[in-house]
Amino acid sequence: MTVVESTQDPLSRAPCVVVMGVSGTGKTTTARLLARRLGVPFADADDLHSRADIDKMASGLPLDDSDRGPWLAAVGDWLRARTAAGTGGVMACSALKRRYRDVLRTGAPGVYFLLLTADRDELLARITGRTEHFMPAALLDSQLAALEPLQPGERGVALHGSRNAQHAVEVVMRSLPEYTAQDRPDR
Ligand SMILES: Nc1ncnc2c1ncn2[C@@H]1O[C@H](COP(=O)(O)OP(=O)(O)O)[C@@H](O)[C@H]1O
Ligand SMILES: [Mg+2]
Repeated sequence: MTVVESTQDPLSRAPCVVVMGVSGTGKTTTARLLARRLGVPFADADDLHSRADIDKMASGLPLDDSDRGPWLAAVGDWLRARTAAGTGGVMACSALKRRYRDVLRTGAPGVYFLLLTADRDELLARITGRTEHFMPAALLDSQLAALEPLQPGERGVALHGSRNAQHAVEVVMRSLPEYTAQDRPDR
């Protein structure tokens, strides 16, 4: 586990968290579980893609940055609204590149990232076993090539090869600055 140092104080008691990583790392599963654990709203960035984006990915083509612009803006708007309302929230979003994360931080500067990673073979097995999803396995390698891990100064934690989503939730709960040892809720 790698904890990336924080350069900012937390801005809210109800945290905004983005669970990030390539396809199959467990973003959706983990983010949903984490939101329930924190008692905050959950959203999945996959649900904010346009029909054209989904059709493009389903045909095996990776999105380019011009496709991603409106989508990242929509994800950022959700985080901005949760931050402004003070409710916190957990978003599952690949957020593969530093500049994508910079967009997400514009309206939610305190957003905390949980980067999930796993071995390629494990990811392939998970993706090929998932028939109902629009992301074909062929896109995995382009996503792995695009991934820029969290950099110094980005609030967040990276977790490789977590046993299951529950384990990932425990890791991020322990590392969230909003929850110190003395006031962590017993839930
Ligand atoms: N930490 C984990 N360890 C092992 N398997 C996991 C983990 N998290 C999720 N899974 C399983 O991997 C598959 C992909 O999870 P999913 O949440 O859909 O990933 P993503 O949203 O990142 O594409 C699902 O079958 C899920 O049950
Ligand atoms: Mg998902």
